[in-house]
Amino acid sequence: MKSFASDNYSGIHPEIFEAIQQANSQHQISYGDDDFTTEANLLFKNLFGSVEVLYAFNGTGANIICLKCCTLPFQAVICTEYAHIHVDECGAPTQSIGCSLLPVSTIDGKLTPELIKPFLNRIGNVHNTQPKVISISQSTELGTVYSIEELKRLCNFAHSNNLYVHLDGARISNAVAALGVSMKEATVDCGIDIMSFGGTKNGLMLGEAVLIFNNELKANAPYFQKQSAQLYSKNRFIAAQFKSLLSNDLWFRMAMNANKMAKLLASEISKLPNVKITRQVDANAVFVIIPVNVIEPLRKLYPFYEWDAQTHEQRWMCSFDTTEEDVNEFVDKLKELL
Ligand SMILES: Cc1ncc(COP(=O)(O)O)c(C=O)c1O
Repeated sequence: MKSFASDNYSGIHPEIFEAIQQANSQHQISYGDDDFTTEANLLFKNLFGSVEVLYAFNGTGANIICLKCCTLPFQAVICTEYAHIHVDECGAPTQSIGCSLLPVSTIDGKLTPELIKPFLNRIGNVHNTQPKVISISQSTELGTVYSIEELKRLCNFAHSNNLYVHLDGARISNAVAALGVSMKEATVDCGIDIMSFGGTKNGLMLGEAVLIFNNELKANAPYFQKQSAQLYSKNRFIAAQFKSLLSNDLWFRMAMNANKMAKLLASEISKLPNVKITRQVDANAVFVIIPVNVIEPLRKLYPFYEWDAQTHEQRWMCSFDTTEEDVNEFVDKLKELL
């Protein structure tokens, strides 16, 4: 089955699979004191500069560690209404941290200082949760990508209001590949304080990294990681995957492919009648509205998710292993059904 449902429907990249096997050849010290973790940490430092690195099993876990580092239970996280932390984590951040989320409406999945300002009115008022973090996703849940200027503006605004910036980087590789700048330029150089670095959606079997740039947030992080049940005793198996992902630009090559396939898909379907692309295609997601009678027959052949049940907007995701042939076959099938 080939699908356009999610970039986590795809499997493991062969080089990552090989890396896991290599990590299996001998005994190593547990809980991250192994050679693979040391080497992966070094590769992260090469990519980002000075950074504290922790690992997590999944994106929800990585987000929880990040937000725990930034908030006290009476504080609040400003995010978009579409944010994964708000709609797709079963309330995990609020449940496990005690902080609240302040979801902001956006048209394109991106936060701006103008959208955030009204949420800062009650800072200092004991009756209100106190905003402490701006959380953004890059690329966003709507497949859009913040520009470097937008990121810098947001981070400057946050810091001048005594707020941290958390970046949910489940798809940071796709965003950086789309921006055409370095990882460092797109994150720490813009002022990001703490972020997750996605692995699962870009060819790993499992694993995300937590990257901490702001020194204020580093000291408690390992304790929060452990308390959040995200410290893997055999961490070398996560680290080995990241070692491979960060070597020979594998992260970039895979993300570029997913992005390129999304552009191809968008360009092909834009030629079809009664197909409306609803969001800007910046990374590896294509959002569309197609005639309702076509949705189910197409979905039977290629699974995908309905994004909005009211408008019947669909979300089609491309993966590191999506091929031109996959896209062309999918488009041919759509054409036939139309
Ligand atoms: C924006 C975003 N953040 C985080 C995640 C990670 O989720 P999980 O906890 O399922 O790994 C996802 C996965 O869909 C995502 O889309």
